[in-house]
Amino acid sequence: MIATETPRQHLDRLWARGRSLLGTETAIMGGAMSWVSERNLVAAISNAGGFGVLACGSMTPELLTAEIEATQALTSKPFGVNLITMHPQLDALINVCLRLEVGHVVLAGGLPSGPSIRTLKDGGTKVLCFAPATALARKLIKSGVDGLIIEGTEAGGHIGPVSTSVLAQEILPAVGEIVPVFVAGGIGRGEAIVSYLEMGAAGVQLGTHFVCATESIAHPKFKAAFIKANARDAMPTVQVDPRFPVIPVRALRNKGTDLFMQTQRDVIGRFQAGEMDQKTAQLEIEHFWAGALRRAVIDGDVENGSLMAGQSVGLVKEELPTRVIIETLVTQAEAALAQRSTGVTAAPAPDRPLADPVP
Ligand SMILES: Cc1cc2nc3c(=O)[nH]c(=O)nc-3n(C[C@H](O)[C@H](O)[C@H](O)COP(=O)(O)O)c2cc1C
Repeated sequence: MIATETPRQHLDRLWARGRSLLGTETAIMGGAMSWVSERNLVAAISNAGGFGVLACGSMTPELLTAEIEATQALTSKPFGVNLITMHPQLDALINVCLRLEVGHVVLAGGLPSGPSIRTLKDGGTKVLCFAPATALARKLIKSGVDGLIIEGTEAGGHIGPVSTSVLAQEILPAVGEIVPVFVAGGIGRGEAIVSYLEMGAAGVQLGTHFVCATESIAHPKFKAAFIKANARDAMPTVQVDPRFPVIPVRALRNKGTDLFMQTQRDVIGRFQAGEMDQKTAQLEIEHFWAGALRRAVIDGDVENGSLMAGQSVGLVKEELPTRVIIETLVTQAEAALAQRSTGVTAAPAPDRPLADPVP
């Protein structure tokens, strides 16, 4: 810390590149969460100084158009749109983003093609992509991406095998100075944000931590499951047979996750008995979770639906306004930086500011 700097000035210096890329007060991205990250939460995050990202998921171009326009009506601040690269109408969705002058698109769910990145960039949109390893990070930088997100296995939803801390140690020193890199997975307090910024990150992305925001439309039962859960309840899906791959998804354990194990065993049994071929068996396993996130988030079926959640769910203790969530993270980050400058180790800042900062 420079002698004359306040902790906030120090923080702003640490995440300056992230703020500049996003055009925001803080370099805190609210990671897109299918069904959860719709107009209300996204606008709330952006209005509170973070960067909201709309989850397109399996939306049609018409639905995405309506959702972007509704979000634009709720905020004049920058927000992004998350597109899944294997969506069959990806090109049409990209055109929607360009036509509605979305400033930033996050391409997720597999390595995006060069032409997808180029079309967005030629249209004036900034592009961020997920980099699961250093070699892929370099490849994406060559393709012209403006920023990268590295997401560790602690995260909620679809996950890779490597922890956030190891990815950060691998990727930040290699490419962190070339493009802004945002760290995601397992972040729930400001001290962790500071640590990744000090390692060379330009910002962070949090998903799980925003699910229980007051503005989140997630069903009260979905939020209650988050508030009750501990870190160890957020487990990756388990694959019972290497011949039948299962995409790892981190979610809270419930009746659905137990039934999924049983379904895999039943289907594999029928395959082994010659009652179905391998492709049919694989499809039956893959279809198990179809529509399951919607069932949990929107309908509140927390028994059978998918309760996608990261390990930081243990840090989610109550429903709070988005503005309070972001201000708390910033206060904790500032307190951590203040401790570094004085050399005095004090108790960490509280889970939420003592005075209610909501205007
Ligand atoms: C319920 C839920 C749904 C998610 N859906 C998506 C998605 O549609 N697209 C995506 O790129 N990431 C998705 N994610 C990942 C988040 O965008 C974010 O990167 C992740 O939650 C960060 O880690 P954290 O959960 O530890 O905060 C989802 C996460 C959760 C918890």
